[in-house]
Amino acid sequence: MSPDEHVCLCFRVSKRKIVNYCKREHPKVASQVSDCLGAGTGCGWCVPFLKVLFEQCKRGEAEPDLPFSVEEYARRRTKYRETGDRTEASGAEPEAPTAERQEPK
Ligand code: FES
Repeated sequence: MSPDEHVCLCFRVSKRKIVNYCKREHPKVASQVSDCLGAGTGCGWCVPFLKVLFEQCKRGEAEPDLPFSVEEYARRRTKYRETGDRTEASGAEPEAPTAERQEPK
């Protein structure tokens, strides 16, 4: 995905803006990336990918990127919007349960 392609398609926030925001502002948690022009606050599709870019920036990777072409990314987002199924549409593994989500024993 090139730097000027949009990661947040709802708010047209480019990968370049997100990466520059992370490098400049050093957000403490991934959710703070939404302070970058509202990224991730629309349909929610891009949230896992914002987290990926956030983690890559946090590790100091020179060129944070996502493993999709812009066409594939948009196609998967369309499928997500149609089905609501993030796992299949994103190709990502389901998130591991967090401490807050675990059932009491
Ligand atoms: S694509 Fe980012 S919130 Fe919809």
